[in-house]
Parts: sequence; structure tokens; C-alpha cells
Amino acid sequence: MSNISSVDLVQPSSLLLAIETSCDETAAAVLRGRTVISSTVSTQIAIHAQYGGVVPEIASRAHVENLPAVVEQTMQKAGLSYEDLDAIAVTAGPGLIGALLCGVSYAKALAFACKKPLVPVHHIEGHICANYVPFPELEPPFLCLVASGGHSHIIAVESYTSFRTIGRTRDDAAGEAFDKAARVLQLPYPGGPLLDELAEDGDEHALTLPIRPLPGFDFSFSGLKTALLQSVQRAQKAGAMPQPKDIAASFRRAVVDQLTHQLFAAQKELRYPAIALAGGVAANRLLRREVQRLGQKAGVPVYIPPMRLCTDNAEMIGAAAQYRFANHIIADRDLNATATWPLE
Ligand code: KG4
Ligand code: ZN
Repeated sequence: MSNISSVDLVQPSSLLLAIETSCDETAAAVLRGRTVISSTVSTQIAIHAQYGGVVPEIASRAHVENLPAVVEQTMQKAGLSYEDLDAIAVTAGPGLIGALLCGVSYAKALAFACKKPLVPVHHIEGHICANYVPFPELEPPFLCLVASGGHSHIIAVESYTSFRTIGRTRDDAAGEAFDKAARVLQLPYPGGPLLDELAEDGDEHALTLPIRPLPGFDFSFSGLKTALLQSVQRAQKAGAMPQPKDIAASFRRAVVDQLTHQLFAAQKELRYPAIALAGGVAANRLLRREVQRLGQKAGVPVYIPPMRLCTDNAEMIGAAAQYRFANHIIADRDLNATATWPLE
């Protein structure tokens, strides 16, 4: 574990407007330090559901349409004018390039017009920092499992602005695996939350799916999806088709066991004093229960954000931006969006 810099130890109290458009949520929030003053999320789920997944071009167009109202409404709810702000923050990557460009262009224009500094924020860093909003006592160092539709990482949060990836998926992200399994079950997009709901009443021992943790702290989920398909086909041939709720429960158990096995193995070996969850998959009910249970067993405090802070929102971008701004991480006028941006 590296040392925490002195600037990191000062709790920031800037007044920031944050904007998030990296995927299919148009979101804005105003924060003073870790305290949220107002927050708006406009989701495009209904638009993309008819195509079975996010259509990047449609997402970009919807962001362009939604951004002015979402930002205006957030400022109005906060009862503030743009002059009151100390800075404007925006997700600059990673994500869908067109979607990111909408937020970055809007934030750049706003920052230029209002003569405010512009703070570029990493989307995954934002997911991790979402935990600072509900948990004022949480401070680095800690381990964070970030599991979303595009990412599955175990991150060592060394300080408020330095991160080290110690485990990652070698193929599909956990959310992607949930969404693909949900498609096998013919659930509509986004399947992850629906599969989770279905699994609540299912028998998780109905199918035996392989859980072979990789050496180190990496994950692999693509084999699990193939195993699910084969196992369902075998059962079908034998005339003993398991019920969808049992398939969902067995699959959910296999994904969650792999995530928690690697997370707690990392904690045991590296001895970080706390564990946090982040990203859309952190909304998964079994994952939340298991992390709580295993944390208690290991005597490690665990931080599990409320559902609204697991999926994409701008509060998390504002929380990350507080520490970036305090550490003088400010974008030039030529800031560009970045589709791939490793968190280091
Ligand atoms: O963080 P997020 O909102 O967007 C990305 O940055 O990817 O995560 C969305 C992902 C989707 O794959 C969705 O199916 C999954 O998180 N997800 C869940 C649950 N809620 C959302 N997966 C399993 N169980 C849930 N309850
Ligand atoms: Zn996300």
C-alpha cells in the first residue's frame, strides 16, 4: 500500500456540477464536497429495450436531446446559478465514444461560457467514489469490486486519486454475463436485474456450473455461459427441463461465488482494511448478501452503496471530481472523450 498524499487527506468542500453520459443514462448532479445537493438521472432503457441492447447512435442522439433539460433541472433543484459553481466535472471515458462526446462537448461549452475550470473524470473511478456519498467515514485504503456491464475489476484504492487494478475479467464482464444468461432465458433487456429477481425464488443447486477460480485475482465468465447453455441442452434432452427460476438461481450463484471468492482472497492476501462494492452488478441481491456475510465472517467492514448509486449516475462523478479538483486535475480546452482509458 502506498502513502496517502497530503492533499488527499484534506476533505474537499467545492461546489461542483457533474455531468455523466458514458452509456445510456443522461445524468447531472450538484455536490458540495461529498454532500449531494441535487441529482437527476434520465434513463434511456425503454428506448434501447426494443433493440435488445444499447444502440450507440441512438444513445448519442438521446443525450443531445436530454442534456439541456437534465442540467437545467439539476441547477434549479439546487437553487443555484452557474456563477456559484467552483467547477464543472464530466465523464471523459471510458464508455461509448459518441455518448461520451455529448457530455464532454456540453461541459466544455458550459465551462467556457461560465469561465469555470473543467474536471475530467474516469467513469470507473466515479463508480468507486459513489461510496463516498452514503458513507462519510469511508476513506482509502480499501479494496473495491467494480462490476458493471462493461467492467469487472478488483481495484486497490490506495488514496483518493490513486488506484491499482489487482484483478480483472479475462473475457466477459459480470454484467454482460448476467445479460447474456438472461437472453437465454428470453428476458427483455437489460436482463441482469430481471434474472436477479427471478433467481430469488429459484433452486441454486438445480444446475451444476463449474467454478474454477483463476490464479491471482482475475475472473472469467465466458465459460460459465457456455456451461449454462450445455447444461440446459442436456436437461432438455433428458426430458427434465429445469424451470427458468432455477436456471437463473444456479447461474447467479456461480457468478457471485466467483466474484466473492476472488475479492475475499485478495483481501486476505493483501490485508486491506475494508471492502466496497461498485457498479451496476453491485445491485445484485445475492452479491450484496454474500459480501455482507463474508465480511462479517472475515471481520472486515464492507460498504455496499444504495441501489441508485450502483447504476450510472452523476453523483458518483461529482464525488470523484471533488478529489480530482482538490488535486488540481483540470482539463485543457482541447479535452477529448476517450473510449478506452485504463484506471491506474
Ligand atoms: O454500471 P452500469 O449501470 O452500466 C455500466 O457502466 O455498464 O451497469 C449495468 C449492468 C448491466 O449489465 C445490468 O444487467 C447489470 O449491471 N445489473 C445487474 C443488476 N442490476 C444491474 N446484474 C445483476 N443483478 C442486478 N440486480
Ligand atoms: Zn457504469
